[in-house]
Amino acid sequence: MTTKFMLLIYLFTIITFVNVVYGLNDGLARRPPMGWLSWMRYACEIDCKNYPKSCIDENLYKDMIDRIAEDGYLQAGYQYVNIDDCWNTHYRDPKTSRLVANQTRFPSGIPALAKYAHSKKVLLGIYEDVGTFTCGGYPGTFYKSIDHTFIDAETWGEWSIDSLKLDGCYADKKTFNRTYPEYSFALSSVPHPIIYSCSWPAYLKNVDDETYSEIRDNCHLWRNYGDIVDSYSSVFQIIKFYGENNKQFVRFHGPGGWFDPDMLIIGDNGLSYEQSKTQMAFWCMWSAPLYMSNDLRSIQPEMKEILLNKELIAIDQDPLGIMASLVVQTSRWLTQVWTKKLSPINNENALNPWAVLYFNGHQLGPDQYMSYKLSSIIPELNQTISYDAYDLFITDKNHSYIGTFKPQQYLRLLVPTSGSVRMVKLIPKV
Ligand SMILES: *[C@@H]1O[C@H](CO)[C@@H](O)[C@H](O)[C@H]1NC(C)=O
Ligand SMILES: *[C@@H]1O[C@H](CO)[C@@H](O)[C@H](O)[C@H]1NC(C)=O
Ligand SMILES: *[C@@H]1O[C@H](CO)[C@@H](O)[C@H](O)[C@H]1NC(C)=O
Ligand SMILES: *[C@@H]1O[C@H](CO)[C@@H](O)[C@H](O)[C@H]1NC(C)=O
Repeated sequence: MTTKFMLLIYLFTIITFVNVVYGLNDGLARRPPMGWLSWMRYACEIDCKNYPKSCIDENLYKDMIDRIAEDGYLQAGYQYVNIDDCWNTHYRDPKTSRLVANQTRFPSGIPALAKYAHSKKVLLGIYEDVGTFTCGGYPGTFYKSIDHTFIDAETWGEWSIDSLKLDGCYADKKTFNRTYPEYSFALSSVPHPIIYSCSWPAYLKNVDDETYSEIRDNCHLWRNYGDIVDSYSSVFQIIKFYGENNKQFVRFHGPGGWFDPDMLIIGDNGLSYEQSKTQMAFWCMWSAPLYMSNDLRSIQPEMKEILLNKELIAIDQDPLGIMASLVVQTSRWLTQVWTKKLSPINNENALNPWAVLYFNGHQLGPDQYMSYKLSSIIPELNQTISYDAYDLFITDKNHSYIGTFKPQQYLRLLVPTSGSVRMVKLIPKV
């Protein structure tokens, strides 16, 4: 072990001991991060003979870097391409204890992949686990019960990694409040910025406020529910979970620290066109990280259009970074209304615009009208003025205008069945 590691470990011990709150006010992740992540679509497929286009190898990530850079995603804000589990060998380097990429699948090595990404202005993320093994059985941070936190942070630094997802398999949950912060501290010693995604709360039941505030002090984003899979019911379970816990989550969510409801599965096999709009709408209302997990080489044009919807992305990336509030919930989550305060358009119009989401989860019968008095779902609206309402899924401004409303009026919209949404922006009229 080098003296540098010793010094860092020593420093960490002192800081923990005197209980200094160092927090994560490091200027990173002021907006929810956006990009692409391999897990949901490609999982741990390492058979490159039978699946040459969809196994975890450098070609997959290079292909996605190309698509992100060339097909409009980067311009829209999708900046990261993140490697997930199963990229490395089943052992650490016996001499240096470092993690080693699988040479047959990553013959050029991870630093070369990072260089390739950076040459196209894309950022590269990687995956590790805080336990003895990753979920897929590869060496973890505490491999052979030895703490490799500082060695691995140094590796990420040397490899020019821009983002790290640290999973929580094969670990004692009771140690998370020590191991995740230690890793945060180690990453802060890397000379270039690294976005730190923690799976800390995903492995706990009923996370209390104290734990969430510790998580927020140490992580830029955090997964807090089971992994998404390629189905509408999976998306609906996440929506329900975020609804049930909305009052708690809104208090810990915002610039610098984000709840991560997991990857966008738009463009995969599980969601209809309407349900794809639904996932995009909810994630943007929540100011959630937007990580796609799909095949950008063969995505259907209408799905690509949803993912590149500028109006929705602007709602997601709004500088206030507020997680929307659930204001109406009836009949087993099948009817929901969510509202989100947005930052003012400019100095002349300094009042806050709002986003409104109507959700119709019913799966029987015709499209349903949903109608709510604006002042009852958004009591903060300015009672003396009117608001222009625009449909955010109609990107042509001439056709997206719905009408002008006073707060006392009802916003009545026809919402398709089968897990569908309408999403509206209310712009104060000055
Ligand atoms: C690399 O991955 C291949 C599967 O694609 C596997 O057969 C091989 O054993 C791995 N090599 C090492 C050194 O782990
Ligand atoms: C972690 O939490 C446990 C209780 O679960 C507590 O006893 C311990 O002091 C905490 N450790 C740190 C470093 O905060
Ligand atoms: C409501 O809007 C009017 C007109 O723009 C403005 O003068 C007033 O300050 C606003 N009230 C609040 C509470 O923002
Ligand atoms: C929108 O309406 C304006 C004014 O009527 C017109 O000049 C413009 O071409 C229209 N744009 C589209 C995309 O239809």
